[in-house]
Amino acid sequence: MPAADSDKLRAETLRAELNRHNHAYYVLDDPVLPDAEYDLLLRELESLERRFPELRSPNSPTQRVGAAPSEQFATVQHAIPMLSLANALNESEFSEFYRRVSESLDTDEVEFAAEPKLDGLAISLLYENGEFVRAATRGDGVNGEDVSHNVRTIRAIPLSLDVGQAPRTLEVRGEIYMEKTGFDALNARQEEAGDKVFANPRNAAAGSLRQLDPRITATRPLTICCYGIGLLEGIDRPATQAEALAYLRELGFRVSDKATVVRGEKAGLEFFRSIAGERAQLGYEIDGVVYKVNAITAQQTLGQVSRAPRWAVALKFPPDERTTRVLAIDVQVGRTGALTPVARLEPVFVGGVTITNATLHNADEIARKDVRVGDMVVVRRAGDVIPEVVRVVKESRPANTVPYVMPDHVPEAERAQLIQSIIHFASRRAFDIEGLGDRLVQQLVEADLIANAADLFILDAETLAGLERMGKKSSANLVNAIAASRETTFERLIYALGIREVGEATARSLAARFGSLAALGAASDESLEGVDDVGPIVARHVVDWFASPENQTLLDELKAHGVQWPEYEARIPAGAGPLEGVTCVITGTLSSMKRDEAKARLQDLGAKVAGSVSKKTSCLFAGADAGSKLTKAEQLGVPVIDETGLNDILRDPKALSRLLATQDT
Ligand code: IVH
Repeated sequence: MPAADSDKLRAETLRAELNRHNHAYYVLDDPVLPDAEYDLLLRELESLERRFPELRSPNSPTQRVGAAPSEQFATVQHAIPMLSLANALNESEFSEFYRRVSESLDTDEVEFAAEPKLDGLAISLLYENGEFVRAATRGDGVNGEDVSHNVRTIRAIPLSLDVGQAPRTLEVRGEIYMEKTGFDALNARQEEAGDKVFANPRNAAAGSLRQLDPRITATRPLTICCYGIGLLEGIDRPATQAEALAYLRELGFRVSDKATVVRGEKAGLEFFRSIAGERAQLGYEIDGVVYKVNAITAQQTLGQVSRAPRWAVALKFPPDERTTRVLAIDVQVGRTGALTPVARLEPVFVGGVTITNATLHNADEIARKDVRVGDMVVVRRAGDVIPEVVRVVKESRPANTVPYVMPDHVPEAERAQLIQSIIHFASRRAFDIEGLGDRLVQQLVEADLIANAADLFILDAETLAGLERMGKKSSANLVNAIAASRETTFERLIYALGIREVGEATARSLAARFGSLAALGAASDESLEGVDDVGPIVARHVVDWFASPENQTLLDELKAHGVQWPEYEARIPAGAGPLEGVTCVITGTLSSMKRDEAKARLQDLGAKVAGSVSKKTSCLFAGADAGSKLTKAEQLGVPVIDETGLNDILRDPKALSRLLATQDT
């Protein structure tokens, strides 16, 4: 039996009545009907809809209980991107913002719509001809997630707009959040049920909205505060932000009762201070005040920078600070082996959560603040940032505390660094070893199969096949890939060594300037600084790298395992070295260095190092047991300088002329 007109009419009346009640209760906080009566009406409507399915509508008040769970959230592209807000961290930053705006708009008294900044999550609500059709999270501002099923369960959000003429398309933007009482009640329930307790209302709201099962969301005390209009079609856009809020209110949306209009910088700051004073008494959490230039035309004049409008700012409350005790200081090892000292604290409630750890950043920071185990410290937490130790309360320092010394030897850190260095060595722009992924490098290091990058070249397929997720085929492929990478270029080699701050471009410049590993390894700070984009810091990193015995071993082993690269004559910039114009030859055995190194260092000073003695040879450096070259030099009258003389010259190139002069006489 189809529904009679009277049933249809009754259903419509019930819906209107229930919507009115919903609005009064959830939007206006002013119930007009006792709960029991509301329930009776709802049940009557449910029974009508059950009897006459054609009377059902997706936006009926009966549809708030939650549909069946979904697998995942669909992606939604926002028609107009959802921007974020620039922050002002204190009043003077607000004043700067004010000055910029007033200059751009060429007015002394800028008018703002101001309202509290709610600490929840942004939502976009889409209505077509007055009917709710979709809700999406902000996501990255361009694409969000479709959370319509969950948003439907939020009673403060109207599903049908009760207006004569609804706009064809209306996108309302607002913040979904949880009031403090609802949050406390939810946590009490969660705790009782042995479920997860939420750290703060923001997390609770976010977790509730991202439930896959809307029936769970329906039980969560979520509400909304609307603060803007996105897409709007079919009617004229309100001329100001304040009018937009009034229009939203008229359509049945919940809008902040603190929203106001302020004129001028002083009034703006006064509003901030008055909201700050009320903050603790508010039934919900806020983290600042949002100011939006009121006139939409002025907003358009100002435009936007990257993801935030130039016409709005969020003036934030200072981060919460509390005092607690340092129980211990541990060193945390990051993925790259970076060491971060962390203070373990007596639990303290700060910035809306209980914290037990706070970062101390690095050894310098600990020393600067002189944080010691046992100290009372001020800790701070702002928004989602990691809590930090601000300072020590020195007056409360217990007797016999000792300054903290950061360990310089953390085995996990060394291992993490080794893994990272080998991953870098094998990477595409370095040795380009295909099939050697991060995970595999980690396994190899952890299984002690490799202790440096050179060890890669002696791995065999059998060993590799014994590793997790490595078959015979992939092991053989990897061994081949490693073998193929042996032939490389000097610049790739330099880059692969992972010298701090030596990227690809610097590696290329260094290769071009020094031509050979020996020359690069022997280069002084001064000559390194002569290279494009190498400053004193990078120069020092290079010198330090080559000074490490471990790194020398790596180089020796790489060569021993057949790694090769063509070397070439160093390209010494004209007039670069004090030994420019000097052509020398080295012979015999040197006791203080290898001949290669002597050659490189002489070249580094601008000398040309030749292989044989001729009339043009400026001098011969002769070590022990010199043979035919010495004889030849003596025959030709080429000056001969011993190892002591060589070292004198390397220390101070001016010594050369002195030594040559002595020989002449
Ligand atoms: S307006 C272009 N108004 O703050 C302006 N946002 O940092 C965009 N928020 O994603 C937002 N209260 O989640 C605006 N009264 C308010 C707000 C508010 C809270 C949040 C919102 C937004 C974030 C921007």
